[in-house]
Amino acid sequence: MTDVVCATKPSEGLIRIEQVWKRFGSTHVLRGAHINICRGETLVIIGESGCGKSVLLKHIIGLLRPDKGRVIFDHIEISATDETDLATVRRRFGMVFQLAALFDSMSVRENVAFGLYRHTNYSEDRISSIVTEKLRLVGLSGVESKMPSELSGGMRKRVGIARAIALDPEVILYDEPTTGLDPIMSDVINELILRVQRSQNTTSIVVTHDMKSAYKIGTRIAMLHKGKIIQVGTPEEIQNTTNPIVGQFIRGEARERIEESLA
Ligand SMILES: Nc1ncnc2c1ncn2[C@@H]1O[C@H](COP(=O)(O)OP(=O)(O)O)[C@@H](O)[C@H]1O
Ligand SMILES: [Mg+2]
Repeated sequence: MTDVVCATKPSEGLIRIEQVWKRFGSTHVLRGAHINICRGETLVIIGESGCGKSVLLKHIIGLLRPDKGRVIFDHIEISATDETDLATVRRRFGMVFQLAALFDSMSVRENVAFGLYRHTNYSEDRISSIVTEKLRLVGLSGVESKMPSELSGGMRKRVGIARAIALDPEVILYDEPTTGLDPIMSDVINELILRVQRSQNTTSIVVTHDMKSAYKIGTRIAMLHKGKIIQVGTPEEIQNTTNPIVGQFIRGEARERIEESLA
């Protein structure tokens, strides 16, 4: 895949999640989650529904703060940064959230241009050409004036990705980007995640419970279980895991997929 030198020392890594603990009331979600994410890699995070994958992603951009532990991005301690400075840091991130909510009352162009209007002083012409370029990258041309309600679920996801990459982020976070899509559209989104990663040389973090996607797009795959990363490795290493919990998870997922395709 891509040439990624993965961090082996604790002091390396573009993003470092260091022994993060987080609970909500009596629900202990993260219990010492720890992982380094390397520049240019696509790290896929897998784990059971409700295990804390979205919570972990939110810590990376400071939407949640750890009870204990630290999150470091490019030498900035996200977990100790105030809201004003976080806003600046977040401009370096693109986010494609689970319910990739587009603004329904805005056209596709306005949706994709949202961050450009907010964070730049670019001219209308420049904004239009960026919108067109990003839409072309996600395989949607000529839909600028359409409203989200006129688009299919897969197209809306792609507009969400175009919006996330409008400001050329260094890191893109995807939360369940293929959930709710049929297998063909899921594959289109997977190809797109790979294309965006290559063309923009971004670091990507993708939360999914879809193992087919994980194997296809992951430079590395990390499994979150009971609040900890219990294994991280290349798709091949994960497929050949000797960890019984990881094995059960990835084979359980595979079995569900087979049942789905027979249904
Ligand atoms: N803001 C919150 N307040 C209270 N509980 C939360 C909050 N966010 C997440 N949780 C709880 O944390 C757990 C993990 O949630 P989440 O990260 O969304 O799981 P998933 O792995 O499916 O993404 C769940 O039990 C969820 O109910
Ligand atoms: Mg989630």
